[in-house]
Amino acid sequence: MFKKLKKIIFPVAKFFFDKYTLKQRSYTYEDITVQISAEVFPPHFTISTKILLEYIKPLNLTNKHFLELGCGSGIISLFAASKGANVTASDINHVAIHELEKAAVANAISLQVVYSDLFENLAEQTFDYIIINPPYYPKAPKNTKERAWFCGENFEYFEKLFTQLPQHIAPNTWMILSEDCEIEHIKKLAAKNGLSFEVILEKSVVKEKNYIFKIQKS
Ligand SMILES: C[S@@+](CC[C@H](N)C(=O)[O-])C[C@H]1O[C@@H](n2cnc3c(N)ncnc32)[C@H](O)[C@@H]1O
Repeated sequence: MFKKLKKIIFPVAKFFFDKYTLKQRSYTYEDITVQISAEVFPPHFTISTKILLEYIKPLNLTNKHFLELGCGSGIISLFAASKGANVTASDINHVAIHELEKAAVANAISLQVVYSDLFENLAEQTFDYIIINPPYYPKAPKNTKERAWFCGENFEYFEKLFTQLPQHIAPNTWMILSEDCEIEHIKKLAAKNGLSFEVILEKSVVKEKNYIFKIQKS
């Protein structure tokens, strides 16, 4: 019933959401403010970023090596760095990278910002934490902005990620997914590369179940 209602509401909500995000907006979490332009994944109304922020909030991250793979606005990376982590924030979106560099200066927070297609430019580094909020709708992205949402018609983002991940896996490699996406298919792609998923958080927001999975070598 709720899923049907969501299908009806979605186009209307998307129309207003697209209009709202056309303008640059600011987003603040715990005294850290980032400017979000139209090109960058907006954490305002999307649930996933906030769930990850709340999940890492109680952690002692002092001196931990922390990677946010696909950092978007970088609010998670900045927050982790403010908690004492040694943070690398990477993305394939040049606008996101540039804006995060500016936000780091504006918030007087130090972190490493790297342009990288998945692990391509991160080859030599190891991490205690790898946090991933992936694009998961199976459609081909038409431009860089859409790479925040669409993982390719045949889940190409996940195919490539799971091929690379076994060489980089961290003790805490976490991925957030919603029940709206094809979780079982994504798990199968991971399993092909010897990776398994364990739920470490389940959280319902507006009747949508979200999961943080810990990814490990099986
Ligand atoms: C759903 S957004 C999440 C952004 C941010 N981590 C957050 O939680 O607010 C996914 C991000 O992954 C990035 N991305 C997509 N494909 C990528 C790739 N192949 N390599 C690196 N980043 C990628 C997108 O540009 C986008 O910023």
